[in-house]
Amino acid sequence: MTTLCHFLLFVFITSCFRIGNTIEVNDDQVTQVHVMNALPKDSAPLEIRCNSADANLDAKQLKSGYDYSWRVEEETATYFCEAFWGNKFASWHAFEPPRDANQKRVFWLIKENGFFLGYDNSSWVEKSTWETE
Ligand SMILES: *[C@@H]1O[C@H](CO)[C@@H](O)[C@H](O)[C@H]1NC(C)=O
Repeated sequence: MTTLCHFLLFVFITSCFRIGNTIEVNDDQVTQVHVMNALPKDSAPLEIRCNSADANLDAKQLKSGYDYSWRVEEETATYFCEAFWGNKFASWHAFEPPRDANQKRVFWLIKENGFFLGYDNSSWVEKSTWETE
């Protein structure tokens, strides 16, 4: 009987810790994703379409120098985006839970030579390139 009580007490206490941890993690896990058009000025308009299993964002026309951003409401879902620019197109993961969930902000810089990921809006890593039909 004592062993059972100890066991139940153990289960109860560990569940409390688990709940506590989950709440704490969710609190500081809101990520803002920014997609920035750094294509040449006066070039063809850039169109962006993004969605996840839980969210369908509206298609956006983004002018050179402009930023499109949204909050990731469900941090366990991947955000898949497509970009169209003249006769070029690309698709990439704007938000990937294992890669980005601990980041406050995720920045994408879209340039003529590709798609660059950064977390501080100043240092960049190339992740994807344009394709042509
Ligand atoms: C990112 O950096 C660019 C260039 O310095 C700046 O114009 C822009 O406002 C920054 N965006 C954010 C969201 O901090």
